[in-house]
Amino acid sequence: MLRWYDTHRRTLPWRAGPGERADPYRVWLSEVMLQQTTVATVGPRFAAWVARWPDFASLARADEADVMAAWAGLGYYARARNLVACARAVVGGHNGAFPRTEAELRALPGIGDYTAAAIAAIAFDEPATVVDANVERVVARLFRLEDKAATRPAAATLTPAERPGDFAQAMMDLGATICTSRGPKCLLCPLREQCAAYAAGDQERYPVKPARADKPTRHGTIFWARNGGDVLLVRRPPKGLLGGMRALPTGPWSAEPPGLADAPAPADWHLLPATVEHVFTHFRLKLVLATAAIDRHAAPDGALWWPIESLGEAGLPTVFAKAASATGEP
Ligand code: ADE
Ligand code: SF4
Repeated sequence: MLRWYDTHRRTLPWRAGPGERADPYRVWLSEVMLQQTTVATVGPRFAAWVARWPDFASLARADEADVMAAWAGLGYYARARNLVACARAVVGGHNGAFPRTEAELRALPGIGDYTAAAIAAIAFDEPATVVDANVERVVARLFRLEDKAATRPAAATLTPAERPGDFAQAMMDLGATICTSRGPKCLLCPLREQCAAYAAGDQERYPVKPARADKPTRHGTIFWARNGGDVLLVRRPPKGLLGGMRALPTGPWSAEPPGLADAPAPADWHLLPATVEHVFTHFRLKLVLATAAIDRHAAPDGALWWPIESLGEAGLPTVFAKAASATGEP
C-alpha cells in the first residue's frame, strides 16, 4: 500500500507533499469539512478558508458569526461552532498546538472517534486506525466481512508501525479511486492478491448493507366529506405528523383499522373499496376511505370547504393527494 501510495497518491489541497510534515490545523480542518461534503466541493472552500484563517490563533480570534457565514453549504452549523470552540481550546489550553494522541484529541470540542484517529495518524503519524466509508469498503472486501462491526478490528490488524499516516491516506485513496462502490478496478489494485472478495468474484456484495428493520404498520381512516362540488379540508395540529398542513380529516393512527372513529361529523359514512398506502420515515400507513355527503353547517370549527375540481391547488401532502385520487372524484 505504501509503495502504491508513493506513486498514485492524490494531490489534495490539505495534504503535505511526499516526505513533508503535515500541518495539523489543515488536517483537522479538512477532515471536519470532508465529513459531509465531497473532496471536489471542499477543495476551493478549504483554500478560501485557510487564506482567511491560516492557523489556530487566527481562527480562535475570529468572530463566530463570520465563521458561521463562511461555513454556509458545508453542512451542520454545529460543526462550524465547534471549529471555533476547538481553536480556542487549543490556543487557551494546549499552548496553541494540538495534542497528538487519539484520546487527548477526542477531548476537544467537535472531535469524535473518526476525526481523532485521522488527525493522530495523518498529522502526527501515530498508529491510529482510520475507518471512513472508503476504508470500510476496502476492508470489507479484503476479508469478505459480513458484519459492519468487524470492520474496525480487521482494519486495525492492517495498520503498520511504519508510516501509519500515509497508510491511512493510501486506504482512503484506494477506496476513492480503485476500490469504488461500483465497478472496482481490481486489475489495478495493489491488494488484489490478498483480496478475498476478488478471489470469490463477489466484490460488489461488500460492504453488506444491514437488513432494513421493517417499519411498523399503522392503520387509519381518511374522511372524504362532500357538499355539492366541495370537499371538507382541515388544518392538521401544528405538532406531529404533517403538522400545520392542510389535509383531509382523519381519525387516529392505530394498530388495527379504526373504522369510523373521529369522523368529522355524524353522517351516513360508507367505506370505499379503495385503500391508500403511504410510507413515512418511521412507519407504513394503511388507510381506508370513508365518504359521505354532510351538511355545510355540520363541519367542525376551522374546517374549510374546498372545490373538488381545484383540489390540486390546496397543496395537500402526498398521502392526502393519493387518497383524493383514490375516491375517483377529482
Ligand atoms: N477523505 C477524508 N479525509 C481524507 C484524506 N485525508 N485523504 C483523502 N480522502 C479523504
Ligand atoms: Fe477492492 Fe478489487 Fe482491490 Fe479487492 S482487489 S481491494 S475488491 S479493488
